[in-house]
Amino acid sequence: MYIDFSSLFHQSSKDLRGGGTVNIPADVTKWPEEWSTTYYKTYPRFKKIPLPASKSSADFFDLLMIRKTDRSFSKDALTPGKLSSLLKYSCGITHESAEYNPRRAHPSGGARYPLEIYPIIFNDVEGISAGAYHYNVKEHALDTLSERPFSGDDIAQLVTYPWAQNSSALIVMTAVFWRSQMKYGERGYRYIMLDAGHIGQNVYLSSMALGLKCSGLGGTLDTNIESLLGVDGIDESLVYALVVG
Ligand SMILES: Cc1cc2nc3c(=O)[nH]c(=O)nc-3n(C[C@H](O)[C@H](O)[C@H](O)COP(=O)(O)O)c2cc1C
Repeated sequence: MYIDFSSLFHQSSKDLRGGGTVNIPADVTKWPEEWSTTYYKTYPRFKKIPLPASKSSADFFDLLMIRKTDRSFSKDALTPGKLSSLLKYSCGITHESAEYNPRRAHPSGGARYPLEIYPIIFNDVEGISAGAYHYNVKEHALDTLSERPFSGDDIAQLVTYPWAQNSSALIVMTAVFWRSQMKYGERGYRYIMLDAGHIGQNVYLSSMALGLKCSGLGGTLDTNIESLLGVDGIDESLVYALVVG
């Protein structure tokens, strides 16, 4: 028997109120505190690498006009400054707000911020060794998960395309599903994917601005990447990745 799970999911997660999987009171004062709490993943015992302060500028409309997927990467295109800008302008904190969470470069459904970002750096970058890192958004720093070299064969265990072996880094997004789904139930899954799209476009545009090449990547070997990052693949799982270089 064939079951169209995507249609089943789409139809059953259609309505926010009545008949759907969630019931969000219109009165915000009735919301539990956890719905307005921002959760940050931290690695307090891991080596932290502060990212340099970055301020980049470019004409926004020009960037949209030149945005494209370009797979002709170079392995050493990244610098700490470029990595810093890429992360800040794609998914970093942009400014504090008195009445709200710190603002980020991307919108987020219900301000649940369900995504974590992990740069996997394939080649040493002026003071940052090749390895797997977590982007510490609050401190604009890298949490070091593992420092290790990546051969072409190692990269082939993470992504299916040979041309990705010439890139500088893989920017992985994982979802901590609970952060959105405790409020929005099944429907929260939709918002998580939309958040990933918002960040993905920011990664593309920031790459263009920084003179980096970029490609979104459906061809990821998710389980291998999750095990490299030390995430369980269930409560937190890969949703999208892009290569840059
Ligand atoms: C979610 C997503 C996944 C993608 N996966 C791949 C991929 O696995 N391999 C690839 O070569 N390009 C991939 N791309 C790039 C698309 O092929 C590309 O965006 C599309 O051909 C349009 O070209 P453009 O981005 O240059 O406008 C992906 C893009 C997105 C948004």
